[in-house]
Amino acid sequence: MSKDDAQARTATYLADPAEVHRVLLLYSGGLDTSVMLKWIQDEYEAEVVALTVNLGQPGEDYDVVKGKAMQLGAVDAFVVDAREEFAHGYVAPAIKANAIYGLGYPLFTALGRPLIAKLAVEYARRTGCDTIAHGCTGKGNDQVRIESTVATLAPEIKVIAPVRSWKMGRDEEVAYAREHGIPVKGGSESAPYSIDDNLWGRSSEGRWIEDLTVAPHDDVFQLVTRPELAPDEPETVEIEFEAGVPVGLNGERLGLVELLERVGEIGARHGVGIVDHIEDRIVGLKVRDIYEVPAAAILLPAHAELERLVGTIHQNQFKTMLDQRWAYLVYAGLWWEPLRTDIDAYMDEANSHVTGKIGVKLFKGSARVVTRESPYAVYDAQLATFSETGGLFSQEASPGFIELWSLQSRMAWQVRHRA
Ligand code: ARG
Repeated sequence: MSKDDAQARTATYLADPAEVHRVLLLYSGGLDTSVMLKWIQDEYEAEVVALTVNLGQPGEDYDVVKGKAMQLGAVDAFVVDAREEFAHGYVAPAIKANAIYGLGYPLFTALGRPLIAKLAVEYARRTGCDTIAHGCTGKGNDQVRIESTVATLAPEIKVIAPVRSWKMGRDEEVAYAREHGIPVKGGSESAPYSIDDNLWGRSSEGRWIEDLTVAPHDDVFQLVTRPELAPDEPETVEIEFEAGVPVGLNGERLGLVELLERVGEIGARHGVGIVDHIEDRIVGLKVRDIYEVPAAAILLPAHAELERLVGTIHQNQFKTMLDQRWAYLVYAGLWWEPLRTDIDAYMDEANSHVTGKIGVKLFKGSARVVTRESPYAVYDAQLATFSETGGLFSQEASPGFIELWSLQSRMAWQVRHRA
């Protein structure tokens, strides 16, 4: 099979099996990457270094994951806490860009992959690995994000993606695991959901989710309380922003990681951030994801509200186009594309006055902005009021404005409706 692989190499960054000696494996501790850890050693007669990246996936025991890697024969195993870098370098820009793909995916996985792959490159270089292995399938977006990152940042390092080539289904993987003494978490009777999560959200795929006619089963929600079970009392949270980045919660200044986690917890308690999403993948497939994104469901609308308050009509109309473009580039695995950093420069500038406080009321699944405050608001209650005040605004000037504003439209109407 190794020889076939070499002949079938379809991209220059894919590894020639004969050249695979030491592999940096992106290791989650789950079934795929555990089987992979063993399989790579056998199949390539290569050494494996395991790397596990902590992006704030809740409830993970990293000592256990690391221990498992060593037990399965890794020559070394590293766990990196990348939450700070993820929050500041990836989630904060996403907030500034109001980043949503499709109708409600806040891109948590898409934001995490380039960072995970960048760390894989760093650790591969540091530990003398010639190859990086990951557990993505050949049908998803994540292979695109990870492999394009490696190929961009480290042309000398090659890639293997065993799940894409080994042709084992879940049953065969479980059998392989049994045979090689690899513990299978949570039994093996039925395939679990395919989960990916970090501090910006959680996704579930597979099983009944693939049947578009099936409404979500209760057991898929492991992060967000189902709205019908959420508290009967609403709760209002106040988010403080500075230059587009959240810095405070209910009057308390917090570091970004802690703020994201705390807002996520409060949102989860109130059933906020459930998204049942049909998505156009980069590789052409249309799929369904169930997302649980409590922090994003509060912070993105709060940010967007504040931004619209301090932005002019021209800035506000223009920025939505760039926001959409930014989200698409990131979704599509082009994090390292210069257009993304070009747009980020605009995002930073446009957010330089996005400072102030937004109150969001949470109640049984809904998150609704209820209060706004900013020293830079392009808003004057005196001007907006219905009572006559004079000042900057002259109501007498309005008819003259209307006459000129509607001039072309009126002329066109006349031309088209001439008897
Ligand atoms: N559909 C989302 C995306 O493409 C989530 C993917 C989750 N990844 C996973 N391996 N389960 O970004």
